[in-house]
Amino acid sequence: MSNENFLTIALPKGKLFGLSTELLKKIGVTAEGLHEKSRKLIITNEEERLKFIITKTADVPTYVEYGAADLGIIGKDVIAESEKDIYELLDLGFGKCRLMMAVPTEKKRARLEDYSHTRVATKFPKTAEKFFAGRGMQMEYIKLNGSIELGPIVGLSESIVDIVETGTTLRENNLEEIVTITDLTARLIANRVSYKLKFDRINSMVNDLKKFL
Ligand code: PRP
Repeated sequence: MSNENFLTIALPKGKLFGLSTELLKKIGVTAEGLHEKSRKLIITNEEERLKFIITKTADVPTYVEYGAADLGIIGKDVIAESEKDIYELLDLGFGKCRLMMAVPTEKKRARLEDYSHTRVATKFPKTAEKFFAGRGMQMEYIKLNGSIELGPIVGLSESIVDIVETGTTLRENNLEEIVTITDLTARLIANRVSYKLKFDRINSMVNDLKKFL
């Protein structure tokens, strides 16, 4: 657990950062210098005994599981894929998107099962495997770290499993959604020990947040 006098919150760089800080600010959980352009990795509000750590998106659950952060804000996709031992406290409602499977329009097959034993490019191989295995489908998973849509365009894979928000990236790359795997939003997560030892503070924060959701 991080410093017992402070509440440490891990925030992801990228799309969820601005939305997270905006919501936290509404309940007075903020710090001077906590903005997108800052390159500082730890930002402290001494008066309110708050610390913010700014991490790579996929690493938020790791900081929280090990107690380097008491709390974190992160997408449900990253939580599911990380399989970390953490508490999920609250659905924050923002960062709405979905995890889905897509293929190049001209290579669309008749049924989902027709893709069995083909290669799928994804940032979320564990989540994808759970989905396909649940349908009795065996696939070959190719882990990529970004620009997943490129996979089938250059012949690396037949399909992708990736996040869609507006659908622009799919459209601009002539890909078509085959099946939605799950809807996603940002969540507030907590370290298990912190949740017990700092219960009053965390619980009051959760209640404050609920008023804005
Ligand atoms: C995400 C996702 C898609 C895109 C979807 O990528 O992986 O590529 O956003 O958004 P859209 O439906 O609004 O077009 P991100 O920008 O996070 O970068 P990445 O390619 O590095 O994962």
